[in-house]
Amino acid sequence: MKFGVSVLSQINKITVLGSGIMGHGIAQISAMNGYDVVLRDIEEKFLDNAMSKIRWSLDKMVEKNKINKQESDKIHGRIRPVVDLKEALQDTDLLIEAVPEDLKLKKKVYSEVDQFAQEKTIYSSNTSTLPISEISQLTNRPSRFIGLHFFNPPQLMKLVEVIPGVNTDKSTVDLGIDFVKSLSKVPIVCNKDVPGFIVNRIFIPLVHEAAYSLENDGKTMTEIDSAVKYKLFLPMGIFELADYTGLDVVHKATIEMYSRDKKVVNPHPKIEQLFSSGKLGKKSGEGFYSYVDENYERVPLSEEEARRYDPIRILSVAINNAAWLISNGVCTREDVELALKIGMGLKRELFEIGRENGFKKIVSTLSELQEKNGSFYTPDPYLKTISS
Ligand SMILES: NC(=O)c1ccc[n+]([C@@H]2O[C@H](COP(=O)([O-])OP(=O)(O)OC[C@H]3O[C@@H](n4cnc5c(N)ncnc54)[C@H](O)[C@@H]3O)[C@@H](O)[C@H]2O)c1
Repeated sequence: MKFGVSVLSQINKITVLGSGIMGHGIAQISAMNGYDVVLRDIEEKFLDNAMSKIRWSLDKMVEKNKINKQESDKIHGRIRPVVDLKEALQDTDLLIEAVPEDLKLKKKVYSEVDQFAQEKTIYSSNTSTLPISEISQLTNRPSRFIGLHFFNPPQLMKLVEVIPGVNTDKSTVDLGIDFVKSLSKVPIVCNKDVPGFIVNRIFIPLVHEAAYSLENDGKTMTEIDSAVKYKLFLPMGIFELADYTGLDVVHKATIEMYSRDKKVVNPHPKIEQLFSSGKLGKKSGEGFYSYVDENYERVPLSEEEARRYDPIRILSVAINNAAWLISNGVCTREDVELALKIGMGLKRELFEIGRENGFKKIVSTLSELQEKNGSFYTPDPYLKTISS
């Protein structure tokens, strides 16, 4: 981790739009890596809250001897909270937009930004699911617009998906990659602007598939989650992970991805039901599970429960979507594995787990599901090549 001056000569000043969950974290890591940052929100009170969160996080680092008090003050001092948009965009080299995931709102924000941003400013969006190409075409610089998808919390998560839109030029992609590296993060390029990019294209359908399994396979939630943890090597169960992510986030991502491509996810109604009844997961006290504690409470899962359930249909869907990314040239197999490792905490390689379970079995599971439930389950040609 560096606390000196930025390593990229083209970028000195960054403007982060939106000081919420993601924006304040992105501002903090950028300042920690030597960039001058302007953090912009629509009201002073949001910025005050963001700046106290950043202070709290830096204090924790001082407590843990990761930085000293002087460095902490210097980092904090590099972030300037600003409400006025024109002032926020003055002389900025890179804009990182992290306003709420709402295409209408983002369109409005970019039309305002276009009025004030200088010619040299590169635009980037932290959107999780919206099409980069479509957003970029609403701006006056689609060739210098890129998706930089940080994961939550940005202070800790190493992965950043770098997504060029159809018009993004190569120098902007290269700059995006170098910028992410300069933050000591790992960039993985999503070569095509596909719904869900890489990690969400695998994670979101898994939640739905687990819900189908719960409905049809006569197993309990903790049996399914235990198998996901002990047989598919995720750090927690999939229902548990959905609750931690927030069922509002899962629901919104589902709607966005499904509206763009029916082949990405087979939505199970349970997610919408939970969302509509305000059961948003850990943050609301109830989602798939109920929570009594505000802190890091974990669902009790066990190897014994894992033995009662074969998560083959969940694994098959994950591998099929991963295969689709590879056969469609979105990323390489190595990239998928790395993204799942650092973006979802997967402890073993997905295709290795697939090999141990048998690719023939995976293809036949998908074919059976396809017969009953339609083309979402059609085995990707890539799986056929590795199973023969
Ligand atoms: N939360 C996550 O886990 C996560 C993970 C990765 C990516 N993302 C993406 O990051 C983006 C932001 O998500 P979030 O969870 O941080 O949202 P959030 O609701 O926590 O924060 C958004 C902030 O933007 C502010 N805002 C609204 N309009 C604005 C404007 N015109 N100018 C400046 N600020 C404005 C809001 O006041 C709020 O403070 C979304 O596109 C989301 O999809 C979120």
